[in-house]
Amino acid sequence: MATKMPIVVASENGRAGATAAMELLRQGGAALDAVELACRITEDDPADHSVGYGGLPNVLGEVELDASIMDGRTLRSGAVAGLHGYGNPITLARKVMEELPHVLLVGSGAQRFAAEVGKSPADQRTEEALLRWRERFVDHGLTPGSSEHLIEMARQLTRPVVLQDRGAPLAASSLEPAPRDDTQGTVNFLARDQFGDLASAVSTSGIAWKYPGRVGDSPIIGAGNYCDNRYGAVACTGMGELAIRASTARSVILYLKGGMSLREAGFEALRDIAYLQPSAHQYMNIVALTPTGEHAGFTTVAGRSYLYMSAEMDAPELAARTPLDAK
Ligand code: GLY
Repeated sequence: MATKMPIVVASENGRAGATAAMELLRQGGAALDAVELACRITEDDPADHSVGYGGLPNVLGEVELDASIMDGRTLRSGAVAGLHGYGNPITLARKVMEELPHVLLVGSGAQRFAAEVGKSPADQRTEEALLRWRERFVDHGLTPGSSEHLIEMARQLTRPVVLQDRGAPLAASSLEPAPRDDTQGTVNFLARDQFGDLASAVSTSGIAWKYPGRVGDSPIIGAGNYCDNRYGAVACTGMGELAIRASTARSVILYLKGGMSLREAGFEALRDIAYLQPSAHQYMNIVALTPTGEHAGFTTVAGRSYLYMSAEMDAPELAARTPLDAK
């Protein structure tokens, strides 16, 4: 069988991961290994405040991580959500896929499984992320209805920080964050290996200041992630509630299955999002890679990019995402 040209597609924050993934693919590695490796690199980067270590915390100042991985050859998938106190959720998601008869583990179950497979607990909070949390709740962010005890917790912030949650209502405090990439961000990796297999991986700390236990689209197969060797791989970043409500990743795949071009399929998924009437604070980005190596990015807001790198290239390159209003 003729080998295929390896290719990696990533969200804009995936440059280091995409480079490492391509190195692995060039050596004959599998797409599934490549996207996991790429995600781990982003998860370990404290400068990325939307993913893994250093991710912005929830309204209580705790980091809760979501991730999923999907194998386009077998359609097997694994995911974790609300993972607290452990790093590299993508690797745990892969273990869910490979070692359990399940797809998704959440919260205490995910933590229990992490310990069971030998992972060591690791505080995912960085000083910088906690300072951002403090800034949100104390220095600038006193919104009407902010819980007094949160403000007090933030005032007392020291490192190592031990936060005392007295169980006060939080709904008024977990408001929608500003539409910045590091408050609604996520990392996406899609890959095709030399065997023509596709894989996809998505990892996030979720939207900043979220209500404890809130889960976005990233660990929801069909919403923020989907991969099928026959049609393509698709992943999302942005306000996860939109991709959950519109089943965005799977929708793109189904539009491709129905015979649309990649451009038409992406537009149709954007139209589905627009029908939800997102607020000015909410955006959705999509990346897609087909079995033939065609790739594209789509966005509900102008001026967004994504990364791609084929085995012929020296480094990942940026490409513009097509916005909904493009002709
Ligand atoms: N897209 C990441 C999230 O909404 O959690």
